[in-house]
Amino acid sequence: MNSSLSGSGYVLGHSDPEVQRLENQARFVADLTDDILRRAGLAPGMRVLDLGCGTGDVSFLAASLVGPGGSVLGIDQASGVIEKARERAHRAGLGHVRFQVASVADFDLGEPVDAIIGRLILLHLPDPVATLRRLAEQAGTGTLFVFHEMDMSTARSLPESPLCAQGLHWIKETFRRAGVETDMGSKLYSTFRRAGLPGPRMLLSARFEGGPDSFAYQYLTEVLRTLLPLAERFGIANADAVGIDTFAERLRDEVVALDGVMQPPAFIGAWTRVA
Ligand SMILES: C[S@@+](CC[C@H](N)C(=O)[O-])C[C@H]1O[C@@H](n2cnc3c(N)ncnc32)[C@H](O)[C@@H]1O
Repeated sequence: MNSSLSGSGYVLGHSDPEVQRLENQARFVADLTDDILRRAGLAPGMRVLDLGCGTGDVSFLAASLVGPGGSVLGIDQASGVIEKARERAHRAGLGHVRFQVASVADFDLGEPVDAIIGRLILLHLPDPVATLRRLAEQAGTGTLFVFHEMDMSTARSLPESPLCAQGLHWIKETFRRAGVETDMGSKLYSTFRRAGLPGPRMLLSARFEGGPDSFAYQYLTEVLRTLLPLAERFGIANADAVGIDTFAERLRDEVVALDGVMQPPAFIGAWTRVA
């Protein structure tokens, strides 16, 4: 943690555009997360806890795997996203998914669970080892732990687009200065072990896309848009140089002119059971 923000809040916030960005991102990587949850062994009838659920996308993936005979509880510290997650569950008629405002760091398992899962939550925690250890101590033997986290160092374009490289630099540097663990995915093995969990099985997967219709240009731009005020505050980038309103279009044009491909950050899934 090296930032003025450490411990004082969640760096991305929950503005309307950021909440929309989270849902766009969730659609972009839904199949990757679904694959990890299935490989890890989420199955009908299981009771699941989803940490840092946001507006509920991972909870909904879990809900479809555990079916109406199972249950999912999603928790998040932000009441606005929990409200939205509840509305989405209601609209989808998902009676077996509940949401609760709670902090991950001091959450107590009030009821037995079969699996504790989370996507893009550990990177935001000041002490992910302590959080996992606490939950592992409360969870029964055999409880599954399944986490899906990014490794931002894997993001690139091929051949390299200078605008893509610049955008990625602004994003990673801003996250880093804000105290976010940008390579959490590659630290999952040691994080699980240090929390007293058995070494997890793991899988790395990433989108890899070219052509004018890829969502990858907008994906990178939306993250940059959310982080821009902070990047300016840290003196990492200024709005004029970034030109956020035309960034996605310029990035797409540059990559397409190179006949190139975009590789957004890879996600690493890790899963194990409490011994
Ligand atoms: C990047 S979002 C991921 C949301 C969702 N898991 C997904 O993948 O779509 C991270 C979420 O974690 C929540 N969060 C961050 N720190 C938290 C904490 N200490 N306790 C509970 N929620 C937290 C934020 O409010 C945010 O909604």
